[in-house]
Amino acid sequence: MNEMTTISRQQRAYSPAAAAFLARKPQLFINNEWVDSSHDAVIEVEDPSSGKIVGHVVDASDKDVDRAVAAARAAFDDGRWSGLPPMVRDRTMNRLADLLEANAALFAELEAIDNGKPMTMAGAVDIPGAISQLRFMAGWASKISGETTQPYTMPGGQVFSYTVREPVGVCAQIVPWNFPLLMASLKIAPALAAGCTLVLKPAEQTSLTALKLADLVVEAGFPAGVINIITGNGHTAGDRMVKHPDVDKVAFTGSTEIGKLINRNATASMKRVTLELGGKSPVVVMPDVDVAQAAPGAAGAIFFNSGQVCVAGSRLFAHKSVFDQVLEGMAATAPFWSPRPSLDPDAHMGPLVSKEQHERVMGYIEAGKRDGASVVMGGDVPASDGGYYVNPTILANVNPQMSVVREEIFGPVVVAQRFEDLDEVARMANDTCFGLGAGIWTKDVAVMHKLAARIKSGTVWGNCHAMIDTALPFGGYKESGLGREQGHQGVEAYLETKTVIIQL
Ligand code: NAI
Ligand code: MG
Repeated sequence: MNEMTTISRQQRAYSPAAAAFLARKPQLFINNEWVDSSHDAVIEVEDPSSGKIVGHVVDASDKDVDRAVAAARAAFDDGRWSGLPPMVRDRTMNRLADLLEANAALFAELEAIDNGKPMTMAGAVDIPGAISQLRFMAGWASKISGETTQPYTMPGGQVFSYTVREPVGVCAQIVPWNFPLLMASLKIAPALAAGCTLVLKPAEQTSLTALKLADLVVEAGFPAGVINIITGNGHTAGDRMVKHPDVDKVAFTGSTEIGKLINRNATASMKRVTLELGGKSPVVVMPDVDVAQAAPGAAGAIFFNSGQVCVAGSRLFAHKSVFDQVLEGMAATAPFWSPRPSLDPDAHMGPLVSKEQHERVMGYIEAGKRDGASVVMGGDVPASDGGYYVNPTILANVNPQMSVVREEIFGPVVVAQRFEDLDEVARMANDTCFGLGAGIWTKDVAVMHKLAARIKSGTVWGNCHAMIDTALPFGGYKESGLGREQGHQGVEAYLETKTVIIQL
């Protein structure tokens, strides 16, 4: 690919509102108040488009975590949230959504500064997505109910039995850096609808929008202690949250490695756990496709959000009869995806989130080359003074033993393989420990349904990729996770079922 020398990778100036937010004193949001940490430790806020340090947030101590959990515990135990009329919970959540909407431009800018994603994308995807999570789940607050059930072994009319759905309690919610506010909303919205209280911790790389959200909590009318937002490192603050005896449920999105660790730590005390973890999602292109449509689709499936997407279409399987054309078509999208600073209005792809992620992704590309993969496109770093840019990359001549084929890279890197028939591609698609998403491109309805049935993954997309909707359950098969978020399943993950049996 030709380096596009005309692209300036100089990050633009921040708006006064964003600059003012970044200049704020690092604090935590506990019990509806901004409070100081018990110690002085902070985490640097870095703009990955420039590599510059642009602010600081608290690195919460154990004491800080305990304080936040105590606030959530008290707020849960006295019923100040779960005891409100569902209509009031619904309205409060919708007010938070209204406030997000009113401040959408600032949220999009902060997300772009913090994560590196194009501001236009944050404004089109992340912020509206967060708002719809809140609005959809707000409606569930008034639609949670049990059943009256006739017992099987007991005579009719002599017992009265029914079930009640109750909120699970205090939730520890830990989210990653790829869609910071959207992931936070995916966690808090169902918890709030169910009547739970919570402590949310954003990822150490991307705390800004969660902190800005905290600004809106009081104005929206949430009682103190219902939503607590703390910032800090995973292995310290996150670990404390997961092991805390006053926490009833842990909800996590992030790496499979940490998900497994969290699952062990949380279930040691029988906390409820939902996990949304990594992926290595296949994109299957059948021979009958319109390549002009499927090739840009397959490119978008991997290059969207710089490939830092749990459902990124990172393994491409194109039928041998269209393989070359599909790769050509994908390579033709290189100028569109060429990385630019996040505040550049022409950006479709930004830098990676951090130096660490940049090193990890470039390490995989190097390993792929060493293992004998050929670089069809990209594989290198574009010119810039600072920032963590990687060019969109396609690797071919790969085999299933290579780390680039087996492991989640979480960058703009796709590995391309050929197949001959449906059986073969179904087997190849399932040859992974993950099972989060899969894309199928074909005009043949029968092939679409046959393959959708055979691929072991939580979501299958047909002629599209990574379409997520708050009404539709989302989660993983195999090592991609535990439980489902979104839809009615999403609220149920925050509810216990109580059975009441009364002898009349
Ligand atoms: P990570 O899984 O370490 O971090 C995600 C969240 O977990 C962060 O909020 C972090 O503070 C927290 N955390 C980390 N260790 C913890 C612990 N011991 N106890 C409690 N909380 C803890 O992910 P990381 O290191 O940022 O990225 C590594 C790789 O993970 C990426 O390259 C990617 O492959 C994968 N990943 C997958 C995501 C997904 O959406 N499925 C999101 C982010 C990363
Ligand atoms: Mg980690």
